[in-house]
Order: sequence, then structure tokens, then C-alpha cells
Amino acid sequence: MKDNLKQIIINLEQDLKNATKEADILNLKAKYLGKKSELNNYLSNLKEMTSEEKKVNGPLLNQIKKELENLVNRKLEEITNQETITFDDTKPVARKFGSLHPITIVAKEVTDILKRMGFTVVSGPEMESEYYNFEALNIPRTHPARDMQDTYWLDNGYLLRTHTSPNQVRAMQNYGVPLRVCAPGRCFRNEDLDACHENTFFQLEGMVIDKDISISNLIYVMESMLREIFQMDVKVRLRPGFFPFTEPSFELDCSCLICKGTGCPTCKNTGWLELCPCGMIHPNVLKMSDIDPEVYTGFAFGLGLTRLAMMKYKINDIRVLNNGDLRELKDFEIE
Ligand code: DAH
Repeated sequence: MKDNLKQIIINLEQDLKNATKEADILNLKAKYLGKKSELNNYLSNLKEMTSEEKKVNGPLLNQIKKELENLVNRKLEEITNQETITFDDTKPVARKFGSLHPITIVAKEVTDILKRMGFTVVSGPEMESEYYNFEALNIPRTHPARDMQDTYWLDNGYLLRTHTSPNQVRAMQNYGVPLRVCAPGRCFRNEDLDACHENTFFQLEGMVIDKDISISNLIYVMESMLREIFQMDVKVRLRPGFFPFTEPSFELDCSCLICKGTGCPTCKNTGWLELCPCGMIHPNVLKMSDIDPEVYTGFAFGLGLTRLAMMKYKINDIRVLNNGDLRELKDFEIE
């Protein structure tokens, strides 16, 4: 009997070698350990044995049973491990397409509007020179306005642009006058992060230069652009501001989108939302790019695209936009 039992183990080992699927192994389990198995026959015969025989054969049969079970279980484990790492490239995959980032959507909307108004879309480098980022914008090295833009300086003497305004200078140099350009882009400042501050944010620079351009043109363009962006009638107002590259400089407010100017918590009951710094281009800036301020005048504005996206999509934490968490960004998916 002992030899027979050993043979059963050898047979099972052999059979398991050829088994590749879970179903095959379960069949073998039934064959070797099930009711109709040889082993079960032996176990049933125990009853008819004398107590002496039982004492010897009982533990032996149990031991063989355990060994068979171990063999089967080990093989099952082996095959499930294999199954999880095999990649079935014929299996259809539930494909999830990406979507545009909210900032990209807003940038596209605004540039589309400006293009219809005759603006050309331009771009410039994110690694900028001190000249384009500051000097040519009438912000010399000693000017205190540099402190308002805590700058990432690079080892090579360049910097990460702190605003999109260097594109004004590049456009004047590249295209001359008359000029009507806009430049969306990423900017960087050394900010401590919180719900309202990011070290990486997006602006859209706008610039118009021609003969006889006045503040009225600035107001008209801004009003038309905002009406298109928000798809509603908005009023704008200008408050005095300061930027070295515009004179006069303004902070442009638009009537609150929520209460339409009557006062609500969003506009802190003022009826106005601060939206966009702007101004008439400083004569020094024109001169530095070889444009005669006696003949040409112009205006410029710096629209905060990050702020606009937050307003549009009611995002109350700026960090959502840059943290790459797709679960949060999927709320803004567009078709
Ligand atoms: N570049 C300025 C900033 O980031 C914003 C700005 C102000 C842009 C006035 C303009 C402008 O074009 O005319 O702080």
C-alpha cells in the first residue's frame, strides 16, 4: 500500500506539471482528493481494518492526503501569481481620454476673442533675461518695483519670467508698429503657497500701439473683451495704479458677475471685482524699443488667467490647478 500511495504522489506531480489553467488543477484536485479518488478508497477501507492496522495506516493516509493537498495548493498559487503579471494585449482596454486643463480652456477662449479683434497671439521664453523682464520695461536694477516680484534667479544669470510683460518688448522689436498682440503664458514668483498664492501662475499680456491710441480705446477693448469672456453685460471702471512700464497706470475693475453691481459677499459688497492691471505704455518703454512716443501711443494690460479660471470654474484653492490631481481636474472636462 505504501508503494501505491507514493505512486499516487508521483502521478499527481506529473499531472500538475502539464496543468496550465486553474480549471485543470481543480480537476486534478477532484481526481486525486475527491470522493472517487484512489486515496478516498483507502480512507474508506480504514473502517474494515483492525485497530492495529488502523494505528499504522491512519496517520500514513493522512500524511499522504496533506502532501497531495500541498501540491495542489502550491500549483494554484503559482498560477494565480502568473496570471496577475501576464499582460493580455488582446484584451480591450477601457480607454480614458484626457481633457484640456482649465487654464488652457480659458487661455484659448480669451485668445480666440482677441484674435477676432485683430490681435496676433505671440509667445516668449519662460527663462528670460533681466533686460526683457525688467530693464526694457522701465524697471532698472535699483527700482523698488523689483521687490514686488520675488524673482527666481538662475545660475546662468537669467531668471524665470515674473510676468508676461517681456512679450511686449519682444513684440515691439520683432514686429514694429502698428501693433496689436496678446501673449498668454506661465509666470513664476517666489510665493509662499496657500489657497490664493502659487509660485507658478498664468497671465495674458495684451498690447496695442498705433497713432492716436487713447485711454478710451483701452476702455472699449477691455469692456468688449470682458463682455465676450463672461457672456454678459459688464461695466468696467479704472482706478489709479502703479506700474513702471505704464503711465498712467490703472487697476481695472469689472462690475461683479454675481450681483451685477448691487453688492454681495463675492465683491465684498462693493459691486466691483478687481480684474486686470493696465495702462498707457510709458514713453520710455516705447523709446527703448525704438518707437517714437511723439508719433505712437499705446495701451497694455495683464490679465490674470489663473484668477480668471478660478472665477469661471468657481475654484477656491489655486493649488488645485497645478497639483496634477486628475480627480480634481476631471470636474472641468470638456467634450
Ligand atoms: N506685469 C504686471 C504684473 O504682473 C501686470 C501688468 C500691469 C501688465 C500693467 C500690463 C500693464 O500690461 O499695463 O504685475
